[in-house]
Amino acid sequence: MSDQSKYQQQKQQWETDVDKTTQRFPERKENFVTSSEIPVERIYTPEDASSVSSYEENLGFPGQYPYTRGIQPTMYRSRYWTMRQYAGFGSAEETNKRFRYLLEQGQTGLSVAFDLPTQIGYDSDDPMAEGEVGKVGVAIDSLKDMEKLFDQIPLDKVSTSMTINAPASILLCMYIAVGEKQGVPMEKLTGTIQNDILKEYIARGTYIFPPKPSMRLITNIFGYCQTNVPKFNTISISGYHIREAGSTAVQEVAFTIANGMAYVDAAIESGLEVDQFAPRLAFFFNAHNQFFEEVAKYRAARRIWAKIMKEHYKAENPKSWKLRFHTQTGGSTLTAQQPDNNIVRVTLQALAAVMGGTQSLHTNSRDEALALPTEDSARIALRTQQILANESGVADTIDPLGGSYYVESLTDKIEAEVNDYLERIKKLGGAVQAVEDGYMQREIHQSAYEAQKRIESKEDIIVGMNDFRIDEEINPDLLRVDEALEARQIEQTKNIRESRDQQLIEDCLQNLKQAAQNANENLMPYILEAVKAYATVGEIANVLREEFGEYTGM
Ligand code: 3HC
Repeated sequence: MSDQSKYQQQKQQWETDVDKTTQRFPERKENFVTSSEIPVERIYTPEDASSVSSYEENLGFPGQYPYTRGIQPTMYRSRYWTMRQYAGFGSAEETNKRFRYLLEQGQTGLSVAFDLPTQIGYDSDDPMAEGEVGKVGVAIDSLKDMEKLFDQIPLDKVSTSMTINAPASILLCMYIAVGEKQGVPMEKLTGTIQNDILKEYIARGTYIFPPKPSMRLITNIFGYCQTNVPKFNTISISGYHIREAGSTAVQEVAFTIANGMAYVDAAIESGLEVDQFAPRLAFFFNAHNQFFEEVAKYRAARRIWAKIMKEHYKAENPKSWKLRFHTQTGGSTLTAQQPDNNIVRVTLQALAAVMGGTQSLHTNSRDEALALPTEDSARIALRTQQILANESGVADTIDPLGGSYYVESLTDKIEAEVNDYLERIKKLGGAVQAVEDGYMQREIHQSAYEAQKRIESKEDIIVGMNDFRIDEEINPDLLRVDEALEARQIEQTKNIRESRDQQLIEDCLQNLKQAAQNANENLMPYILEAVKAYATVGEIANVLREEFGEYTGM
């Protein structure tokens, strides 16, 4: 009997067995689907993993185009992913203390959370900042705060990610200025600036300026850094917040890659060469609970981006083809109920990110559905990564789920559905137009609505929240930001203003204003001069507000 007929015979026998078994034990659900509504079959076999048969074209080896199995030839066998915990609250001194604690506990990269006034270009003494100073991140008004933020942290030894978008150019210039004060030239600085305004319009909301001037500021950073700060990643094209807003895994990848294409188009239109700036584009994805879908999502995203960069943009430098990404475990999956359960969720999500080949990882703390993390919770979150790295063995071989009939099938399906979305967005005129039309927002809201209905109907069980509940008190040991911080911060910024060379400030801001009026000028040198003179985030942002106007929303 041939192998094929033996296989068919086995398959038929199994189908018979299924019919018999389900008489007595019916399956739990009529339909099993992923978060992206992709059907989950009872079993996957060689018939489902067609891409494995075209290994060279669809999979390749790690470090080889199209990078499905990973972007480095040795991946974690040479270097673990960067353990990079997002942190920041209160004053620069308090956050500096948390940074140094996390570095002492073994984290290998920094990630700055700024408070909302900083993220939206207001100083702590601006009426718009009232009640938000130091709340969801660290308050940064002037270079003095940035110097305190990185006190005793050598910027030539650590890479720093900054979650800052509309005023990204200002905070990047402050980071450069701190490096200079430490004796670290800007060409040695490593890190990432998020600098992704489209997802702010779509999902996160910390935008200031309209799309066109925003894209100018973003590509100014690309152009300035490729020459002056060549080791710095100039954007972190983010799907994280799109997913947190309720998108599916497919929409997360599709809208992120569409945004990525819009940034590449804008950079090329501004006169930049694709192989000059593309190697320093980076990405940022979420890790939600459906383990296999998340692993397949990252693998599909790498393959899609590689093909777009090589085939559509004709990039020739392999570094332009590699999708390098950071992952944060899904904040919206954390429950306020039974917070310790979140340690298990975060572990599974972190495992998916690692099995999916992430370059950098943040693991959420168990109490983050309730407040910013305590030191204990942040340590457990970091230990989760260290246990995965050092005790589980999952970092010892590359892309261990590669070749799985299910994962390869899911990778192919996600790739196909993402490409369908990209085609639709292209027909709408590209990501900027699609965002302005509210297309992505509508798609996300629909997915969020359907997901919420599944939870309310208990089709989806969230342990501890809509089932397996207990009577419990909210843990009183949550981190609280000192209410007196706002007044102290305002006082400090007032003192900075009174102690600086006011004429120099006026000259710097005037030069910036004039440069902003000329669309061909790169504003980074002007902003750098202003921050070195201790101009504040708000003062600089207000000059740009006068020139560019403010965006009132999609
Ligand atoms: N073989 C050879 N080289 C290797 C290697 C290997 N196995 N592993 C790493 N390397 C090299 C890399 O090539 C790199 O060298 P290069 O810069 O010269 O190419 C160096 O070692 C460092 O490795 P990575 O670049 O892979 O790791 P990083 O951690 O430095 O960078 C990144 C990762 C994804 C590219 C970068 O963009 C990054 O760190 N992003 C983090 C973004 C982040 O933290 N965002 C948080 C946002 S929080 C937020 O928005 C949510 C809030 O709103 C709730």
